[in-house]
Amino acid sequence: MTLPWLIATLHLLALAIGSAGVFLRGRALKTAKDQNDVPAILRADDLWGLAGLLWLVTGVWRAFFGIEKGTEYYMENPLFHVKLGLFLLLLGIEMIPVWTLVGWRLKRRRGEPVDLSKARSLARISHIEFGIVVIIVFLATAIARGIRP
Ligand code: HEM
Repeated sequence: MTLPWLIATLHLLALAIGSAGVFLRGRALKTAKDQNDVPAILRADDLWGLAGLLWLVTGVWRAFFGIEKGTEYYMENPLFHVKLGLFLLLLGIEMIPVWTLVGWRLKRRRGEPVDLSKARSLARISHIEFGIVVIIVFLATAIARGIRP
């Protein structure tokens, strides 16, 4: 009883952490003017990364390790497939910011300035990702209630 509750709580907390993270990252990227703005971008990116990890671990646990309604319940609902597909799409799109921001982190560790020329396009990507998260929430609440096409 306690474990499913704790895992479900972490799954929902990921929504709070991830929404804040990707939204703040997008805003910080959009308004970034110089090197002083980089730490805020990376802090928001940390939150987004943490949420992604939490979603993956708790989501797979809930769906495939029998602590909720059982794997069959989810696999039979096409909306669950769409949810997983959108999550994979998120992971795919995220490879673009990951690639750039890991580079920024390495540069900062070496004390070098980062090139902010991609900040605007990364902001756009962050906002698209936020939109995908909102769509996933619509799907998730439908799936939990057995709603299906
Ligand atoms: C951006 C990523 C994700 C978001 C925003 C998200 C959102 C949610 C939300 C809001 C719920 C609660 C639904 C409710 O109780 O009304 C939920 C439940 C759930 N999610 Fe996710 N989720 C994400 C990723 C995943 C992944 C990757 C998996 C599985 C691989 C997964 C599996 C589940 C399962 C099994 C439930 C329980 C549904 C039930 O109560 O029967 N989620 N999710």
